[in-house]
Amino acid sequence: MPNTRTIANVYAGLPTTDGAGVKLTRMIGTPELDQVDPFLMLDRMDTDDPDAYIAGFPDHPHRGFETVSIMLEGQMRHKDSVGNEGLLKPGDVQWMTAGRGIIHSEIPEMIEGRLRGFQLWVNLPAEHKMVAPKYQDIPADQIPVVENNGSSVRVIRGTYEDATGPAESLMPVRILDVNLDAQAGWSIAPEDGRNLFLCIHEGAVTCDSQEVAAPSIITFDGNGDVQVTAGDTGASILYCEGTAVNEPIARYGPFVMNTHSEIRQAVDDYNSGKLAT
Ligand code: CO
Repeated sequence: MPNTRTIANVYAGLPTTDGAGVKLTRMIGTPELDQVDPFLMLDRMDTDDPDAYIAGFPDHPHRGFETVSIMLEGQMRHKDSVGNEGLLKPGDVQWMTAGRGIIHSEIPEMIEGRLRGFQLWVNLPAEHKMVAPKYQDIPADQIPVVENNGSSVRVIRGTYEDATGPAESLMPVRILDVNLDAQAGWSIAPEDGRNLFLCIHEGAVTCDSQEVAAPSIITFDGNGDVQVTAGDTGASILYCEGTAVNEPIARYGPFVMNTHSEIRQAVDDYNSGKLAT
């Protein structure tokens, strides 16, 4: 019998508003669950009310980490200060290394229909916080899918079975978009010593003898495999695993550095137009 991880905690997330009035649920980066190192934040969008998303996220800066946008339904137009522009369609992923600084906008390009997806923030260690910004637009058809006994796993970053995800990151992380049929079982062997969480975002699972319904974050204790079984309507899970940065965090809005003086520098650079030059 392989060792199996036990549940440490289950979190429901916190409804909030960000950007120009986009309603979302903050799953990580809340008073309850500050981070799952190296994952600083996870926002989940899921709405069919255009008033709740249409204004999107106008120009805003980032420094010191990577942002990952995972679009499941709907479309989002992205433009940044480096000159990149792209339209995220259902299933597409955008992986952006903000590094020393980028200013960008993310605006839904649809006036009706459901908008569903995630934004994940991956921290960077001090040695990488001020690297040159980098941007990858990954269309859905470049993301390998591993199918097995009722499970369908899109490999966004890292390896799973014999597939390797196309996303490049400065961090050793594994990101999987897992979809399970009703009653399907799924298990994974995380790399030793890494932190991980599951975001159950559709349906429900049984894990460690506990039933967990969407939307929820599950964190774990110990080492060994993670095992889940989907409920009667199946389940969709965002699986995130990575090596902790283990450094002090100074955080102010869209800037995540190691010290308060680095945050002051980021604010000064932004205010004087030097953040993204
Ligand atoms: Co942003």
